[in-house]
Amino acid sequence: MSEQEIYKGLAGVPVDYTAISKVNPETNSLLYRGYPVQQLAANSTFEEVAFLLWNGELPTDAELAAFEEKERSYRGLEHHIKRIIDELPLTAHPMDVVRTAVSVIGASDPTTADDSREADLDKSLRLLAQLPSIVSYDQRRRRGLHFVEPRDDLGYSANFLFQTFDEVPELPVVSAFDVSMILYAEHSFNASTFTARVITSTLADLYSAVTGAIGALKGALHGGANEAVMHVFDEIGTADRVGPWLDEALSTKRKIMGFGHRVYKNGDSRVPTMKAALDTLVDYYERPDLAELYDALEADFVGRKGIYPNLDYPSGPAYHLMGFDTEMFTPLFVASRVTGWTAHILEQRAANALIRPLSVYNGVDERDVPVKD
Ligand code: ACO
Repeated sequence: MSEQEIYKGLAGVPVDYTAISKVNPETNSLLYRGYPVQQLAANSTFEEVAFLLWNGELPTDAELAAFEEKERSYRGLEHHIKRIIDELPLTAHPMDVVRTAVSVIGASDPTTADDSREADLDKSLRLLAQLPSIVSYDQRRRRGLHFVEPRDDLGYSANFLFQTFDEVPELPVVSAFDVSMILYAEHSFNASTFTARVITSTLADLYSAVTGAIGALKGALHGGANEAVMHVFDEIGTADRVGPWLDEALSTKRKIMGFGHRVYKNGDSRVPTMKAALDTLVDYYERPDLAELYDALEADFVGRKGIYPNLDYPSGPAYHLMGFDTEMFTPLFVASRVTGWTAHILEQRAANALIRPLSVYNGVDERDVPVKD
């Protein structure tokens, strides 16, 4: 075994600068382009946040109007994308469907190879606008329902919910969904964003980087956790069963989904804002039982292990209350994080260095291939 130091999982290793977001575990804060994410959630829309992440500044009224007009004009889904989704079996996980759809969009776009900033910004906006159509189409086909065409008189979040449920929900639901989109949008060099930057560093196109990032997000240690949280809630059932369930789970060294974070060790900066949105939904849908289960699991697990909830813990039950099927939760994360991924793709391209770390070999020593007689 070599004595050379290795940095397993790149934990604690800074690999580049970024001006997009700042995660500060000491102050438990998250800034997008300098703005606290809590303030953005309270005062901005997801469209404004997308503009901010890509351009570095919040839009003026005129810039926002132009941005929204373009986003709304890009929302439709071309026939061949629908056809390819239709060909995928219902046994396919929705993350595989969304990954395939983005890959097909990349294969169909004549500008895929154009890596100018203007072309990449346009592709980013197209993906932002089309992901709600893709996700809602997949959710609805699984329920045997027809595609709902987007409405260009609705903002991003209201339209997303309209396309999924064929009706525009009331304001508290739209607001909670918009808050979740803002909170999920960006989080520095997390695994999926880093994947996008690695792919971009080889000079591959934006769609390849986003497709790879979707693959990285799927896993339960990353974005897949919001789906996994809901499975945990379903398994436990009611608040009074939390204790015995945790005894059993911890005795088998099970990871409790929705808790823990690589960077935050004293709580995730996004959780209080998302928990407030969840509380609104609990009141709106009159589901105090869900809040009791949420609180009981949090109190018991934090009490035993001192490991705090991450964003996936409140967002899983929030999406459940809104009516999304559990398997659709991580695709919702994709729809939001595509903004952060593409902002990082633009930043990586602007000051590129091929990302290629070293490894320390610990296999068998050099040996000769046996020569057959
Ligand atoms: N449940 C039980 N134990 C945990 C958990 C958890 N959720 N999280 C950490 N631990 C324990 C580990 O078992 C380990 O214990 P040990 O030292 O006795 O072996 C210790 O805490 C350190 O954990 P690591 O997994 O080594 O820490 P790391 O920084 O690599 O992990 C991670 C971070 C992967 C997020 C982890 O906390 C986890 O698996 N959480 C559950 C999955 C999850 O919720 N992911 C969402 C991440 S946030 C997001 O994507 C929005």
